[in-house]
Amino acid sequence: QAQGDVEAGKAKSATCVACHGNDGNSPADMYPKIAGQHASYIEKQLLEFKAAATGGVGRANAIMGGMVMPLSEQDMADLAAYYASISVTPVAVPEEVIEQGAALYQGGDMERGITACIACHGPRGEGLESAKFPRLSGQHPAYIKAQLELFRSGERDNDPNGMMRDIATKLTDQDIEILSQYVAGL
Ligand code: HEM
Ligand code: HEM
Repeated sequence: QAQGDVEAGKAKSATCVACHGNDGNSPADMYPKIAGQHASYIEKQLLEFKAAATGGVGRANAIMGGMVMPLSEQDMADLAAYYASISVTPVAVPEEVIEQGAALYQGGDMERGITACIACHGPRGEGLESAKFPRLSGQHPAYIKAQLELFRSGERDNDPNGMMRDIATKLTDQDIEILSQYVAGL
């Protein structure tokens, strides 16, 4: 794996600004924040957008598929190092989702076979760099919701061993609504 360089990544990030914002904290909530995300996870996503765009197995997305086309593996590693080095801006959790959100996030649901999110995404939604588990805290709720729906429908299927797919297929619309607002504020 290529070693990323923060300064080189910053220099290569000009084309990302239009959607992900000046510092990776995208102002529009249909675009994910990438600031503060783990470098290992960012790099994996960039590689997989390219894999899908070139006819292989990966993460299919028309916009990002185009964006990653000209990027080398070194570019991806540099961009990942740069965005990982910036802090993500916090999101406030609406009071009314805290109780149900915390119950599902921390405890899962044994009866419905839902593994607790905390097992992989951590007590503060911080994820885990070494395992490529993404940070969720600070992310736009609208983007989180969209991704949970994509995992559930199977349109996003680049999660290792179908971990997210397996969980998302057991989530109701209401679970997704609550979780997406709750985890953003962890
Ligand atoms: C998603 C990086 C340019 C639109 C992502 C993700 C990364 C990323 C790492 C995945 C985030 C996650 O999984 O949490 C970059 C980099 C760029 C770039 C490094 C510059 C080289 C752009 C531009 C646009 C854009 C210019 C808009 C025209 C999107 C969208 C998604 C996304 C819509 C979500 C895709 C989905 O729903 O699966 N980007 N991006 N990106 N990016 Fe970019
Ligand atoms: C990705 C939420 C449980 C492992 C994601 C993403 C979301 C999410 C929103 C996409 C992040 C992004 O695009 O930036 C949740 C919620 C959970 C849960 C709400 C509980 C209901 C778990 C568990 C595991 C796990 C238990 C481990 C067994 C992963 C992995 C990815 C991921 C590996 C990245 C997939 C990839 O590489 O593309 N999760 N998650 N998640 N989650 Fe979870």
